[in-house]
Amino acid sequence: MGLDDLLKGVQTIAVICNQWGDTGKGKFSDYFASQWADVTARGTGGNNAGHTVVVNRKEKIFHLIPAGISNDSNGQFTILGNGMVIDLPVLSHELDELDSEEITYNNLLISKDASIIMPYHVNRDKVKHQSQKDGGIGSTGRGIGPSYTDKVARRGIIIEDLFDRDRLSRKIEKVREVYSEQTINADEIIDSLMPFANRIKPFVRDTVSEMHRFMREGKKVLLEGAQGLLLSIEHGTYPYVTSSDCSLNGTASGVGLSAKMIDLPLGIVKFPFMTRVGAGPFPTEFGGRSSESYCAEEGHTNSDELKHYGITHRIVNGKIRYDRNDPKIIEMINSGDEFTQGIGIRLTAGEYGATTGRPRRTGWTDGVVARYAVGINGPLLVLTKPDSLAGAKEFKLGYGYKFEGRVVDAFSKSEGFLRNVTPQYQSYEGYGDISKVRHYDNLPSSLRQAIEDFESFTGGRVAIVSVGADREETVVR
Ligand code: IMP
Repeated sequence: MGLDDLLKGVQTIAVICNQWGDTGKGKFSDYFASQWADVTARGTGGNNAGHTVVVNRKEKIFHLIPAGISNDSNGQFTILGNGMVIDLPVLSHELDELDSEEITYNNLLISKDASIIMPYHVNRDKVKHQSQKDGGIGSTGRGIGPSYTDKVARRGIIIEDLFDRDRLSRKIEKVREVYSEQTINADEIIDSLMPFANRIKPFVRDTVSEMHRFMREGKKVLLEGAQGLLLSIEHGTYPYVTSSDCSLNGTASGVGLSAKMIDLPLGIVKFPFMTRVGAGPFPTEFGGRSSESYCAEEGHTNSDELKHYGITHRIVNGKIRYDRNDPKIIEMINSGDEFTQGIGIRLTAGEYGATTGRPRRTGWTDGVVARYAVGINGPLLVLTKPDSLAGAKEFKLGYGYKFEGRVVDAFSKSEGFLRNVTPQYQSYEGYGDISKVRHYDNLPSSLRQAIEDFESFTGGRVAIVSVGADREETVVR
């Protein structure tokens, strides 16, 4: 079966992460956007997210505009939905990037109701932003939290306010005392925003009613999730979360739909290892609390770790290149010391932030987390990156936790619980290169066994196994 078979009779797809973000949603949203969708839409978050879009054979990192924009000239619509928070200079910069690559954006639609990340939000996030090592949650510092805070407090500035100077001025005056640590001059702020406002004006719409029209017309709609369920304000490991609900429900509502209208909600699960960026509990983390604090410190970027472990690497066009299967790395992933093993897996899987180079914390895939995600986002699962673990002698999956002497299989987001559980693992025999496999039955038997055990434990159904970054490197079940 191919990906196309999965799409028969489907009008709406959502690509949603079932962990803490960075699970490789991009590969699937790119595929559906380029081969299938008439409309791609984002419903949550802002420029805390990042995805690489390959345009004219160049890799560009976009933070706001969905990957589908590269199909604009084919008449595909791209929506920045009502649930998003938009930083105008960042959006304008992304439009510049599109201009420089001669990618059109005639069918870009920006919700009149989306919230704006104002300059005082970014300042607040930077000033108040406690770095992770000082006990903060490790926010991206882009003003996401303050902007959503204003939205909930019903004093937020939304896109349509940009086109009524008096109202905008009154609203900014109203928040002045909330941001008393800053000097807020409404006129100055408005003047600085006006060039951006004028630039986006032609694209501003009531995107909810546009979306409803697209649905009535039978257009094929792709929702691109941002972040991940465990970072959701509603369902994530609060307070170590982002400020939007990036579940399937939140993503659908962020574009004016109900989750019930999504025919193919795909929950992405990194497997058999997973990652987390920023602070917060992560029960299956290699090296536990010491890894959490190590990753929060400066000086552990990709190049730092390569240097530290004596792994040959070079810089080509500003990018670090190294052999992900370097014998030293393979030795590390098979190390008896969990902390070292975690760094080895980070190196072999390239788990560093795309923009910052920040190391992502690594651990075995946690079935309890996945079971919880299935309960919220539904049973259809896509497993990503198992190919990265080629060369590991064994791998493990977490099925249940030991907590206060009992074995529990239900997730609870309470920090006191998650910090004190001992994951219960099942080990499986490792495997070699699987990137050439295209049929489920040809996957190594230990991996298939692990997938089937994982399905029984979580109640999920694995529809796709990704065996490499390329589109063709995909096994559809
Ligand atoms: P904020 O969204 O910038 O407020 O950050 C809140 C938390 O979410 C921090 O732990 C971030 O590291 C994390 N976070 C935000 N966006 C992403 C993402 O796209 N991938 C992974 N983690 C993210």
